[in-house]
Amino acid sequence: TGSGSHAIRGHIVTLTGDPFFDSDALVEHTDGVVIVADGIITAVGPWSELGSSVPEGVPVDRYPDGLITAGFIDTHVHYVQTGIIAAFGAQLIDWLNTYTFVAEQKFVDPAYASAVASVFFDQLLANGTTTALTFAAVYPQSVDAFFEEATKRNMRMVGGKVMMDRNAPEHLLDTAQSGYDESKALIERWHEQGRNHYAVTPRFAPTSTPDQLAAAATLLREHPTTLMHTHVSENLGEIAWVRSLFPESKGYLDVYDRAGLLRPGSVLAHGVHLTPQERIRVHETGAAISHCPTSNLFLGSGLFHVHQAKNHTHPMKVGLGTDIGAGTSFSLLSTMNEAYKVAQLVQYPLDAVKMLYLATLGGAEALGLDDRIGSVEVGKEADLVVLDKQATPLLEFRSEQVASLDEQLFVLAVMGDDRAVQTTYIAGEVAYSRDGHQH
Ligand code: GUN
Ligand code: ZN
Repeated sequence: TGSGSHAIRGHIVTLTGDPFFDSDALVEHTDGVVIVADGIITAVGPWSELGSSVPEGVPVDRYPDGLITAGFIDTHVHYVQTGIIAAFGAQLIDWLNTYTFVAEQKFVDPAYASAVASVFFDQLLANGTTTALTFAAVYPQSVDAFFEEATKRNMRMVGGKVMMDRNAPEHLLDTAQSGYDESKALIERWHEQGRNHYAVTPRFAPTSTPDQLAAAATLLREHPTTLMHTHVSENLGEIAWVRSLFPESKGYLDVYDRAGLLRPGSVLAHGVHLTPQERIRVHETGAAISHCPTSNLFLGSGLFHVHQAKNHTHPMKVGLGTDIGAGTSFSLLSTMNEAYKVAQLVQYPLDAVKMLYLATLGGAEALGLDDRIGSVEVGKEADLVVLDKQATPLLEFRSEQVASLDEQLFVLAVMGDDRAVQTTYIAGEVAYSRDGHQH
């Protein structure tokens, strides 16, 4: 509409705290309304109280069967791997060499990068994902394609150029100096332009020399509001390799710690095999873990212990990641489903409220963006998703049987996917509508 004012009415469900520690973190308005002006939420509450304050002439989008919540946040994804989802038969290091390092070389071509970026953003929106922390490829033009698309869609997105100066094909390598120079130029071009944020992105310890990790830390010091994005302790063979490459380090996490890469806004994908001491160190530094269950199962990497991550003495910030293309779905609902099953295998009943938190506010906290996104609260940006309890005949039937909101959320998490995403709002505007029309 362009007028900047909107109202969205339906069953509102959001987290305003961390349900691993706060049993009152869930807020619900069964017949609620969100009022938006200039992309920012100006009021949230029961329709019976706020309906009369919707300004004259402001349209009200109504979702009688919809659950309105904060847009999903994907805390770890590779847009350049959209074309290799479901690559058969390999675990991490072989998978990287056989599929990933081949696919990423195509992103030297800016036209190809733009085409894939467009597919990627369409998928995010169709899955209700409104923010994603994203790996591009080593080429700066692959980052330009990403932020050009993000800017077009006005989405709050985080991304960066991969830094890797060893242990990969020649064409994919930068150097400590060129990785620094190119990253710096990209930070100056894109960071905090519109809703964009830059993440300094050393791929993982095995593909960076100590010099390159030091250069990444210099970038972080010179640009204190940038994020840091890498992988850690995903696979046992990878961990053994890191130990042999960095014999002076206490372990995998310590490689990043010594380099000066751990701070709030540093997001480490996986962390499946972190030791208790490493978890304490993640807690102390304010860094965060992206839990990527579809990827960890697909690559046979291992089982993340979410209750250990959220222990009461040294809890880590944790969000959910799809880790496309090692992950198998863009859907944060499907990711919750797999997170539940992984937790079952380590004897922890991960409930739906906690999963919704991990997919929304927990992700925002991991990224250090919880002052702007992650919940349906006054002052936050109106990035929202509307979930359809009746998306399929089976969901409709199952939803008729539910006795509580917790049960309804659990059913949606376990059975839902992109079919359950009815509408995605970006800054109060409809950016995706499953049914193909604007409300
Ligand atoms: N570790 C280093 N690079 C990658 C990657 O592209 N995907 C995954 N899952 N792990 C990695
Ligand atoms: Zn990854």
